[in-house]
Amino acid sequence: MKRILSGIKPTGKPHIGNYFGMMRPAIEWQNQGEAFYFIADYHALTSVFEPANLREYVRGAALDFLACGLDPAKAVLFRQSDVPEHTELAWLLSCQTPMPMLENCHAYKDHLAKEKTPSHGLFAYPVLMAADILIYDSNIVPVGRDQKQHVEVTRDLADKMNALYGNVFVVPEASILPSVQTIPGLDGLKMSKSYDNTIEIFEEEKKLRKKVMAIVTDSTPVEAAKDPDKSLIVTLYRLFASPADVAQMQADFHAGGIGYGDFKKRLFGAIWEYFAPMRARRAALEADPGHVERVLAAGAQRARETAEPVMTRVRRAVGLRD
Ligand code: TRP
Repeated sequence: MKRILSGIKPTGKPHIGNYFGMMRPAIEWQNQGEAFYFIADYHALTSVFEPANLREYVRGAALDFLACGLDPAKAVLFRQSDVPEHTELAWLLSCQTPMPMLENCHAYKDHLAKEKTPSHGLFAYPVLMAADILIYDSNIVPVGRDQKQHVEVTRDLADKMNALYGNVFVVPEASILPSVQTIPGLDGLKMSKSYDNTIEIFEEEKKLRKKVMAIVTDSTPVEAAKDPDKSLIVTLYRLFASPADVAQMQADFHAGGIGYGDFKKRLFGAIWEYFAPMRARRAALEADPGHVERVLAAGAQRARETAEPVMTRVRRAVGLRD
């Protein structure tokens, strides 16, 4: 039985890049092994400095995940900080992490490029992530493309620790779906909060419409034929529409006579409909405020039961305990 693990950083509302990159694959994996999914609140502390916001985002992330189909009867859903062993293991890994390896990681490099001063927490972010993964003896880590580098760091650290201390860790593998490697945002760049080009999955109707209508297009006139292969609208539409509807849109692009505005309306309709069942589920979950807390509490217990013996094994392996 494979152990599957992934985390979601609670920093606000999830967007469709998060959904297709990590949430949906993780939800599919829950049927194929023993899945552990957590809300990475320690990681959020590298960028969320308002306690009330952090609380709201953590709760929101749990609701989002459940609404999108995470089934607590199949997968363990928990809050990272309910299992403090994550940070303990992160320290032990830190002591074997070469600085240059972290200097090479993209979040840190982006920070420097923007001439911001990175905190030590941000610098060490990949080490904590490695601890998250290794402390569950995880085999498979479903993540978006942007997290691939972090899983590679994890593998390197596991190899290093195994060579030094004997086989203490399972070496995990990233699972990145080839079909949805990178979801473009409203401007065609990778969808990311830091680019301010996101489409949120639980966006309110009016705002969602406005965002979709703001997708960047070229200035081909209405009458002219358009190239569907170069259109962001078609790329996004493919994620939400049936193959027949996609084929229809492609044909309409080639035929000319329809403006981008109309295509965007079609795209909006497809997105809105796609997330309708999740919206309904989210509303139902919100009506029972104790539910999420109960799910997280039960998840924390199961996560701790799994993490503790691994931590004991590692303490022994490095010589902290007999
Ligand atoms: N860094 C991930 C993100 O920003 C979240 C995360 C934290 C994670 N720890 C993890 C993902 C462990 C997979 C495994 O999306």
